[in-house]
Amino acid sequence: MAEYTTFVLEEKEMPTAWYNIQADLPEPVPATLHPGTHQPIGPADLAPLFPMELIKQEVSQERYIEIPEEVQEIYRLWRPSPLYRAKRLEKLLDTPAKIFFKYEGVSPAGSHKPNTSVPQAYYNKMEGVKRLTTETGAGQWGISLAMACQMFGLECLVYMVKVSYQQKPYRRSLMEVFGAKVLASPTDTTQSGRNILASDPNSPGSLGIAISEAVEDAVQREDTKYALGSVLNHVLLHQTVIGQEAKLQMEKAGFYPDVIIGCAGGGSNFAGIAFPFIKDKFEGKNIRIVAVEPAACPSLTKGIYTYDFGDTAQLTPLVKMYTLGHDFVPEGIHAGGLRYHGMSPLISHLYHLGVLEAVAYPQNPVFEAAVTFTHAQGILPAPEPSHAIRAAMDEALRCRESGESKTILFNLSGHGHFDLAAYENYLGSNLPDFVYPEERVKEALAHLPVIA
Ligand SMILES: Cc1ncc(COP(=O)(O)O)c(C=O)c1O
Repeated sequence: MAEYTTFVLEEKEMPTAWYNIQADLPEPVPATLHPGTHQPIGPADLAPLFPMELIKQEVSQERYIEIPEEVQEIYRLWRPSPLYRAKRLEKLLDTPAKIFFKYEGVSPAGSHKPNTSVPQAYYNKMEGVKRLTTETGAGQWGISLAMACQMFGLECLVYMVKVSYQQKPYRRSLMEVFGAKVLASPTDTTQSGRNILASDPNSPGSLGIAISEAVEDAVQREDTKYALGSVLNHVLLHQTVIGQEAKLQMEKAGFYPDVIIGCAGGGSNFAGIAFPFIKDKFEGKNIRIVAVEPAACPSLTKGIYTYDFGDTAQLTPLVKMYTLGHDFVPEGIHAGGLRYHGMSPLISHLYHLGVLEAVAYPQNPVFEAAVTFTHAQGILPAPEPSHAIRAAMDEALRCRESGESKTILFNLSGHGHFDLAAYENYLGSNLPDFVYPEERVKEALAHLPVIA
């Protein structure tokens, strides 16, 4: 009998709690600091931005946090998501490796992002908030928050990074179908946006700039709070449904991964697949966990581990993270969701402790892997997870050389149906490869905040 390739769970097997890695860290994650006083922040400092339930999750040390039934009900629209063995890719690569992937592209938004937009909208609704602002890079997060806001009856305003607004017009349209208002960032409607436009009228925008605009907007209105699609502890927490399901599915497949791979922009899908397995690693399992980032925005592989702002206008608290500097504006690569100057404090901490590895690729080899994957498996991946595919394929090719039969698991965080302009450029040999120049690291250092 042919070996199975698809591993699905029943609805009742969907996780009912999120896994909080903070309960199992060998050392606690460094404190978040107030941008003015440089002292550790308390809940009151975050209250203008987030509802209290999310602030509690941000600092919680409880190992499991129950998923509210209203959130589970919406999760069930697409969860549990499938896990596949990429047998046709294995064959094409002629590798003894076994390649598995968890597929988050089955969500209504096409990515993993609704795993956190739904609970974020829910907790805001429960606390009487009427309107949410946010930023979006490639548009996946904006669509996800727009959908969640629609489902809970909240208004939604999205500051979309200008280069993506131009590259991915249909993601913008989908946000609008879900009822959100979308602006190309930098805008002239916020002070942060106007400051950027004054120094660079043609700014392509960046996630750091769009975050500044969304935060500035939210703090000015009583009825409004801000939602972030990555980076923060509570966002990574919500994504752990991915890894918890994957663990059960790998068990059903009869394999345990030797290597787990995910792309990392702010770190949320990577954390989602990896954290439940890192728990096993802390308990003695021998697994490698690899974050993959673009060579054009390599925060882990070329950044500095230090306190920095989460946004360009220095409005957010200071977090300790691997950063390229808060005023770094990456080149307009097509993996818009990976164009963030920093990295989640939790991922940064784990990388600093040596629990994780990281690797960076330019966009052409990434698109080459994406097209090969599409030929073999029939799924068109988004440019962001195509970074994970590149790394998984390289791992499998190394197995072909060594004869090892490793089990590789990667997260396919979203489909690329709205990224066809990027594929068109790749197929037309019109995709430049940007590599982050060393001198920019030094430049960024000069602008970092000095903490006494
Ligand atoms: C499909 C997809 N994968 C990955 C990412 C990167 O974000 P994160 O590192 O938070 O998973 C994005 C961000 O927009 C995305 O849309």
